[in-house]
Order: sequence, then C-alpha cells, then structure tokens
Amino acid sequence: MNKKFFSPGFVALMLVLLLVTGCNSGKQKTDEPFRAAEVFPTPERPAGQTHVLELRAEPIDTVRVAIIGLGMRGQGAVRRLSYIDEAKIVALVDVVPESVERGQQTLELMGRPAADSYTGEEDWKAVCERDDIDLIYICTHWDLHAPIAVYAMEKGKHVATEIPAALTIEEAWQLVNTAERTRRHMMMLENCNYDFFEMATLNMAQQGLFGEIVHAEGAYIHDLRAFLFAEKGEPLHYWDMWRLKHNEKKDGALYPMHGLGPLAHALNIHRGDRMEYLVSVSSGQFGLTEYAKEKFGEDADYAQRDYKKGDMNTTIIKTAKGKTIKIQHDVTSPRPYSRIHMLSGTKGFAQKWPRTGIALEPNGHYYLSDTALDSLLKVYEHPIVKEVGEKARQVGGHGGMDFIMDYRLIYCLHHGLPLDQDVYDAAEWSAVIELSQISVANQGMPVQIPDFTRGAWNELNTVTYYTSD
Ligand SMILES: NC(=O)c1ccc[n+]([C@@H]2O[C@H](COP(=O)([O-])OP(=O)(O)OC[C@H]3O[C@@H](n4cnc5c(N)ncnc54)[C@H](O)[C@@H]3O)[C@@H](O)[C@H]2O)c1
Repeated sequence: MNKKFFSPGFVALMLVLLLVTGCNSGKQKTDEPFRAAEVFPTPERPAGQTHVLELRAEPIDTVRVAIIGLGMRGQGAVRRLSYIDEAKIVALVDVVPESVERGQQTLELMGRPAADSYTGEEDWKAVCERDDIDLIYICTHWDLHAPIAVYAMEKGKHVATEIPAALTIEEAWQLVNTAERTRRHMMMLENCNYDFFEMATLNMAQQGLFGEIVHAEGAYIHDLRAFLFAEKGEPLHYWDMWRLKHNEKKDGALYPMHGLGPLAHALNIHRGDRMEYLVSVSSGQFGLTEYAKEKFGEDADYAQRDYKKGDMNTTIIKTAKGKTIKIQHDVTSPRPYSRIHMLSGTKGFAQKWPRTGIALEPNGHYYLSDTALDSLLKVYEHPIVKEVGEKARQVGGHGGMDFIMDYRLIYCLHHGLPLDQDVYDAAEWSAVIELSQISVANQGMPVQIPDFTRGAWNELNTVTYYTSD
C-alpha cells in the first residue's frame, strides 16, 4: 500500500468519513425527520396580533362594492353581483374607459343604479380610501392583486381578489399580516370550490364516505394559447398580454389554485393538517414556440422568444399527516379542459375529469353505475347548493359556481359570519406558485411550505360553511 495513504491528512479524512457515515447509518438515519430545504423562515407574529381563523366582522346591511379590473373576468362579476339584493356596486375601476362603460351598461341592463367611474392607473387607491365602500373586489391582472388587497385592508375594507392572491411568499405574508392586524376579511375568489361535484365530494369527505383521504389530484389543464397570443384589438385578449409575460419569465405551477383549493378543503388543510413540503418538475417548453411559429411565422418575435414555462408542470405536496396532493399545470397543449379533482381514500374514490365517477368499498374496483352515481350525488348534495344551486344555474358563470361564490361572500359579510375561504387559504394556495418555481429551478428539490397560521393549523378540524340559522 502506498505510504502516502497514512499521511495525517488521510487519517483525518477517514475519521471524518467514519463520523459522517457512522452517525447517519442504519436505524439512526431512518429515525431522523426528513428535512426539506428551508427557503423562507417564518416571520414572527408581531406582538398584540392574533390569528384570523373563523374571523367574524360586523354584519353589513348592504355590502357596498367597488370592482377593480373590468376585463374578461370583471365584467362577469358586475353582472353576477347585480343579482344579489344585499350587494350594491358603487364604483367601477379600469384603465380602459370602454371597459368601465361596459360595466355601467350592465348595471343599467340589470336595473341597478350607475356606479362611480374611475379610469386612472392609480385610481384604485382613491377608491380604497373612500369611506362609503365595504368590499374591494379585485379582477385585475395578477401583479396588482396583493398590492391592492393590502392597501384596501389598510384602509379598513374587506377584500375579495381574483386568483392568485399573491405571487410570492413575501406577498402572501403581507396579506396574512395585514389581515391579522386590521381584522379585515381577505378572501381569494377560488370559484372551483363552489362547483357542484366539488361541493358534493367535500360533503362526502366530511361525512367519511371515502374513509381517510390519502391522495388527491388536481390540475389546471386549459389550452389558453389563443388567449395568450391575442393582441390588443382582438376580441378576447389579456390586457397588455400580461399572462404571456408570466409564461415567458417563470417556470412552475403558475396557477395551482383551481386544482388545489377544493382538495385542500377536502383534506382539512390548516384545519387539522397542513401542507409541509413540495417537489416540482416541469417538462420542456414546446407548445408556445410551435404555436407562435404557426400563427406568426418562423422568424416572428413571438416565435423567437425564450419562454421559460415548461408545457407541463407537475407538483407533489406532502402534508404533515402523510397525505399527498398532485397538482398539474398546462395551458399550452391541445388537450380537453381538466381540473382532475380526484380524491382517493381508504374507503372510496371520486374523480371528476376525465371521467366523472365514484367507487366505494366493497366494490372499489368498479365505478358506480350512472344511476347509482346520480342518486349518491343527490343524497350528498351540499346544503349550500340545495339552497342556491338552482338560481346559480340560471345566473351562470362557469355553470353556476361563480354565482354561488359571490352569493356566499355577500351572505357571510351581510350576516357577520366567517367566510368560506380565509386569508390562510389564499396564502397557502398561492404560495405554491413561488415554491414550485424554486423546486423546478433546482431539479425538483423539496421546498418547505410555510405555516401561515404560525402554529394554529390544528385548532379547527374541518372547513365550515356558516349559515345564519
Ligand atoms: N376564477 C376564474 O375562473 C377566472 C377566470 C378568468 C380569469 N380569472 C382571473 O381574473 C383576473 C383577470 O383576468 P382577465 O381574464 O379578466 O384578464 P383581463 O386582462 O381581461 O383583465 C384585466 C383587467 O385589468 C385592467 N387593469 C390593468 N391595470 C389596471 C389598473 N391599474 N387599475 C384598474 N384596472 C386595471 C385591464 O384594463 C383589464 O381590463 C386574473 O387574475 C385571472 O387569473 C379567474
């Protein structure tokens, strides 16, 4: 053996190796808790501030609403809210004057009084500062959601924002801290939680029909290529092509909330369980470039850009109680729409896409027949859907779920009840956006998910849709 192997350096190295491998070997190693990368430390809760789980605010006789952002989504909100007697739209805000005008026309058509019009880029601030408004309802592009929400709460307003509520962990903490300090409601408008099948399966989950839910899957698979590349002047375009810009700059689960929201409620996230860490991996980017080449030509600017967003992103979340949640995001492939919405438990299984079905013990191998499925869905129809489902179907908005969401928001504010979705839901579901980007950028490295309740995630045991009876 070569003499130099016995040098002091070699001996020291062997000792270090022995220590490292010895300490981590065998039983000791498997007993150690798994450590995900701690990217974001939890900021301490400021003194005197308490959590806002089950927050109740003073009942409001008529909820006076300002809608900020009147693009494709905001116009629908004007119409839907006009059906609700306890709501009154008092201000309409958008930088495109024709969009504000369209909103006013809808109010007139619905027999509602005209609202005040605002068209300045920073007019949302003046609107938040008014003292005759109760609720700021945000439907702008993503970048303004958290800034407006924080400002509005600071000015004493309740807030409902289109999804996502936050684009970064920092924004998510700003929302949580501002809501806790001001005691204002901050709800992210996750309409998919109010879809009929999702509500029925939530009811089933809460009544134990699936046993212990062990795994769940959700998605946002929606071919948006035509929208993403639609320019100003085309009938259905995003303002300033904001959504294409996000796909150009970021890779991860850019829109996880539609898939995750209903699953998080079925799994009692921050109501007895919590999302602990995630891993996220994306495919390469193919769809946007191919589409751009076909639409604009090989040499066109759009075809030459370096789009960061991989076509398919898959994120897997592990919860403190050992459950797994898979979330997918693909807005650039020619595929039928799907949010999957799958719940798999020790006693049964439910799934909405691609085939709507339920399977239960002792016949878990087989889907229930269509007749059995229909009657089961009838039996477990969510009480809220029983109450308002028929009207929701008439008003519409993604088949009615949008109306149920608005109805519930106004109902709870009117009666001074906790909202169905709280600021922690908004923060947790939105946090996946930045956390998944970090994981993707690091070959799927596990990334810890902050506990936005700062230790209160075990105080409740399920989500409650409160009513005044
Ligand atoms: N929940 C759902 O099912 C659903 C469906 C569609 C869109 N959305 C969400 O709704 C939001 C809006 O999407 P969209 O499709 O309507 O986009 P959009 O581009 O049509 O609308 C954005 C609007 O914001 C306005 N705006 C821009 N800057 C402004 C400012 N400074 N002040 C006031 N208004 C300003 C634009 O003029 C535009 O009208 C997004 O968050 C989107 O993800 C949700």
